[in-house]
Amino acid sequence: MAKDFIVTPWEVKGEVDYDKLVEQFGTSIISDDLINKIKKHTGKLHYMLRRKIFFSHRDLDILMKEYEQGKKFALYTGRGPSGHTHMGHLIPWIFTKWLQDAFDIPLYFQMTDDEKFLCKPKLTQEETKKFSYENALDLIALGFNPKKTFIIIDTEYSKTLYNIAIQVAKKVTASNAKAVFGFTNETNIGMYFWPAVQAAPCFLPSILSGEKIRTLIPAAIDQDPYWRIARDVAPKLGYPKTAAIHCTFLPALTGPKGKMSTSEGMQSTIFTTDDEKTVRNKIMKYAFSGGKDTLKEHRKHGGNPDIDISYRWLRFLEDNDKKLKKIYDDYKSGKLLSGELKQILVDKLNNFLKKHREKKEKAKKQLDKFILKD
Ligand code: TYM
Repeated sequence: MAKDFIVTPWEVKGEVDYDKLVEQFGTSIISDDLINKIKKHTGKLHYMLRRKIFFSHRDLDILMKEYEQGKKFALYTGRGPSGHTHMGHLIPWIFTKWLQDAFDIPLYFQMTDDEKFLCKPKLTQEETKKFSYENALDLIALGFNPKKTFIIIDTEYSKTLYNIAIQVAKKVTASNAKAVFGFTNETNIGMYFWPAVQAAPCFLPSILSGEKIRTLIPAAIDQDPYWRIARDVAPKLGYPKTAAIHCTFLPALTGPKGKMSTSEGMQSTIFTTDDEKTVRNKIMKYAFSGGKDTLKEHRKHGGNPDIDISYRWLRFLEDNDKKLKKIYDDYKSGKLLSGELKQILVDKLNNFLKKHREKKEKAKKQLDKFILKD
């Protein structure tokens, strides 16, 4: 039987049923108990936790228990630099920045220029390297702590990374990689080795410090297959199993199916490089609407915010719960029209992106402080 949806590190298709996905992947839903435990240490909760945008995990309960016993942990996340950064990428990074501040911990950030060179037939090494540096500015612009944030550009940190990756690779068979990632005989052999490279930073904090430090990975759930490999080999190599916290996908502008992704086409995606006019045009023209066909009907019956992409995006971007609820209620009652809802999103995005562009400019001078060298 055909699956209703597909989630792999390279594609997301169909409307994702996150409960089913948790079952398929064997991860756990973040319980209210666990959320309360986090709140005990952080004071306030980030809206992405409150709203269950971050909804699933692996061993976060164990990590929190160890934290309460005084054990340190480190954050690890990353980006495949195949083009400009889009709003979807920023979702886990915004949350990661909150975790860094709330727990005052280091972040290791992997830029996989090698992965994108291997898996994208048209991209050259020069291009993926160029995007690594450009995307790094988006990360820095979010305000990460330069003393505690270490950006790894794979091909430039290869001495250290390669030595960890071969340890991982020795413990993973081709049939295992095929089963987890769906590789075939046509997949290039670089990709067969690649999961070992993405697993390597899971162990980097332990290797660099000489202590056993568990990593916590905040990312969308598409990256989880990598952590299955990393967690399988961890005890064999004498490291703690990496923990993960997963978010849902910021949907494509054009509809609730799949995730926002560059490969879904320009009209489905807002890039951090889009100017005000482009943002406005894309939202007004393409953002899937939950409104009624006529003004009269909309006023009478109201819209459906649950399928309306502008509302769904505001859930990811507007941290004020009261404001968000009012938008939801007003749209549902017909008081707020689709064009007005779209305008709220346009303003939210353009305000954010204006400041983001300025911070990105300043980040150029800071770049050196963030890049990890070996
Ligand atoms: P990449 O570049 O595909 O994605 C970077 C990060 O963005 C998340 N993401 C999204 N989150 C919410 N909504 C979306 N529409 C959306 N699209 C992408 C991804 O889950 C990811 O967290 N192979 C990786 C690079 C990588 C990595 C890592 C990612 C290396 N090490 C550790 C996460 C954690 C990649 O190509 O990511």
